[in-house]
Amino acid sequence: MRTQVGIIGAGPAGLLLSHLLHLEGIESVVIESRSRVEIEATIRAGVLEQGTMDLLSKCGLGERMRREGALHRGFELAFEGGRHRIDLTELTGHAITVYAQHEVIKDLVAARVAAGSEPVFSVSDTSLDGLESERPSIRYTCDGEEHVLECDHIVGCDGFHGPSRAAIPEHLRSEYQRIYPFGWFGILVEAPPSSEELIYARHDRGFALISTRSPGVQRMYFQCDPSGSVENWSDDRIWSELHARVEAKDGWKLTEGKIFQKNIVGMRSFVCSTMRHGKLFLAGDAAHIVPPTGAKGMNLAVNDVRILSEAFKLLYATGSEAKLDAYPDDALKRVWRAEHFSWWMTSMLHRFDDATPFQQQLQVAELKYVASSRAASTALAENYVGMLAS
Ligand code: PHB
Repeated sequence: MRTQVGIIGAGPAGLLLSHLLHLEGIESVVIESRSRVEIEATIRAGVLEQGTMDLLSKCGLGERMRREGALHRGFELAFEGGRHRIDLTELTGHAITVYAQHEVIKDLVAARVAAGSEPVFSVSDTSLDGLESERPSIRYTCDGEEHVLECDHIVGCDGFHGPSRAAIPEHLRSEYQRIYPFGWFGILVEAPPSSEELIYARHDRGFALISTRSPGVQRMYFQCDPSGSVENWSDDRIWSELHARVEAKDGWKLTEGKIFQKNIVGMRSFVCSTMRHGKLFLAGDAAHIVPPTGAKGMNLAVNDVRILSEAFKLLYATGSEAKLDAYPDDALKRVWRAEHFSWWMTSMLHRFDDATPFQQQLQVAELKYVASSRAASTALAENYVGMLAS
């Protein structure tokens, strides 16, 4: 088997890249270790920046997102018993859409299937060969049969634990990492929204976030021990923690409902700045991870493949590798901005068990400044909506 661009991983990065290449008449094959059912059901975050919304709309994938996603023009910061609105639209002219990542995936898979280019699901034993040669290839097993896919180039969109990054010799990789000493406990709840906008709360007991999925389903998170287990968290214990952390002095109350999903995610910041090795390019979580506090993960993946698709377009139109050569530097500008923003939001809003009282007061002072200074809230808002000069 042969294709122009071999793509490992059917997450937002891999599927969107395949779709963008298809629109330019460039052939690709996507392989994925999980099944279609699994990737369409995996619960992840769900904030789309303006630029992500615009790109999805431009490439014909925005219809359901605009209909079912919720446009948010602001969010709230809750701390010290008060709530403070960050008016994204007034401060930046832009907004964000809350639309779950697995819904984006469903739209992308449907588009690939409609184009007659369904990803190859449930593959195993994936390995990459000949990355520094003219004939790179991907080897994988599907339905018990071994396949070799020869490619002009390979793009690794296979997440943090996938084989692509690991195929770059370790001594050639530059990696940067910070692991946080806490995780997020996430729940999905059958309930009406408690708030029209997202609430990011800092509390002495730890961080909490009230988000949404639809008029009848809400998404909520609270900071927890990352090595804990969901079995240790009864519904009552979850609600009492959330009430304690998000309710302000103004009498507003969080609406409870039936919890139908619970999960714990660890938090890390990670960058592999070696985003190219010979004929292999890394995109999305394969190259970088952000903690979810800044809501940047999927948006960074989308930005990577936007740049890559333009680079492949130039290559196949003119033979020029100029944009492919520039890809790591181009992508890393936004990656490092988002790394800093996500680290900053995380640091400002979470409880650090080893923080001294002095450090705790600094956190509160920073939040008060962000909430009261137009310059500081604009800095937060322009990072959040992702409309940055580059
Ligand atoms: C979510 O709705 O899943 C969500 C929203 C905002 C975040 C992270 C996750 O910062």
